[in-house]
Amino acid sequence: MKDTRTLTQIALMTTLIIVLGFIPPIPLGFIPVPIVLQNLGIMMASLLLGWKKGSISIFLFLIISVFLPAFTGGNTLLPVLAGPTVGYVLSWLFVPILYSLFTANQPTKKPVWIFLAIFLAGVLWVDVLGSIGLAFKLGMPLKTALLSNLAFVPGDTIKAILACLVASRVKVESTSPKKSLA
Ligand code: BTN
Repeated sequence: MKDTRTLTQIALMTTLIIVLGFIPPIPLGFIPVPIVLQNLGIMMASLLLGWKKGSISIFLFLIISVFLPAFTGGNTLLPVLAGPTVGYVLSWLFVPILYSLFTANQPTKKPVWIFLAIFLAGVLWVDVLGSIGLAFKLGMPLKTALLSNLAFVPGDTIKAILACLVASRVKVESTSPKKSLA
């Protein structure tokens, strides 16, 4: 019963990430990285499922995208890994565990801490890793890549707030990495 529940939660989260990829990207013009909604799904997976199930749902999304065009704009994984957005996509895999580590010592789970943790893991970490990948792929100075990524911060912050609001209304049990290692 618990296994069925877990599998359902993971499958639903993977589906949500894929469905968010149907929403067309908004190109920025000055860098070959668009504004997307799929990273909202990554934040939701972290907030709602915890590090284990959240990571599995993101991993499952990546596996599916090897065969199906599950990324925003209809891309599959291999071209994405070879392209300028590789840093963002690789960073997504670590968002649930980072988020869980940031909240592990916050038993009261105050909304402000939840927001701060998902901002650090789902916005700052992703945009910094993404900038490193971008700089590497385009041969662009890291400082320029980081500065151009500031364009994502307002939108990504709104996504983080939205994810917190949804998560505060949907209760799904989760484990922290510390708890399950104990
Ligand atoms: C892809 O489909 O190739 C991945 C796109 C990654 C876009 C990143 S995620 C963080 C930042 N916020 C956005 O809205 N876009 C970039």
